Amino acid sequence: MTPTVDITADTRAAGEAVAARIAALIRTTPDAVIGVATGSSPLPVYTALAGYVDAGLDVTRVTWCALDEYLGLPTHHPQSYRAELERALVAPLHLDPASLRVPDGAADDPDKAAADYEAFLAERGVDLQILGIGRNGHIGFNEPGTSFTSTTHRARLTESTRKANARFFSGLDEVPHECLTQGLATIMRARRIELIAGGEQKADAVARALHGPITEQCPASILQRHPDVHVTLDAGAASLLVEHSARR
Ligand code: F6R
Repeated sequence: MTPTVDITADTRAAGEAVAARIAALIRTTPDAVIGVATGSSPLPVYTALAGYVDAGLDVTRVTWCALDEYLGLPTHHPQSYRAELERALVAPLHLDPASLRVPDGAADDPDKAAADYEAFLAERGVDLQILGIGRNGHIGFNEPGTSFTSTTHRARLTESTRKANARFFSGLDEVPHECLTQGLATIMRARRIELIAGGEQKADAVARALHGPITEQCPASILQRHPDVHVTLDAGAASLLVEHSARR
């Protein structure tokens, strides 16, 4: 099914639009399981959601599940995805930290940690998954070439992703080389998907994801096969969509 695409005035408006749909889901399904991404893209969603909570939305029964986590950083390292989600989501929404589940990137046995996380997600079922997109079309840490049948697994970050993420660390050397990530098949099991992207640097990946061939070389292109995907973009991220559909 073709994803629904909304083009909003700016990333703040995009965040507000996504947050409104998530708030509506929580009102009808108070014990929803919501998959959350890290990085810059979803931050306006979390800011807007915090506004709903301050206005009285009850999120105490929601379970929040991270998409991915670096491998090899101590759990409380400030750049671990758990720490990032505690700052961006748990604190502003006044959540119980136990309601946030993250793959255990500090585990002695990362393969078992991946399998345990996959089992947890499969048992609960994800009602709605929030996604950003990498400039190379990755979702989660599923880099180009990842199998469409992948479940939660240990993966290597590409150099381009390490460089893109180096802005959060004091240097490229500090960026981990490996991670645990929900796989593409895991992401596809979510009942609904909300992808948010902003800025021209995402335009090519967005256009390939939505209108390009469905190929493991562009992991996000698998979303064309999902029955309920909502894509919310600013004008920059949407800037190649018309051109790309016209070329088909
Ligand atoms: C984050 C994640 C990544 C990011 C992507 C975009 O948990 O898994 O796929 O969503 O790299 O990152 P930003 O939003 O920082 O541009």
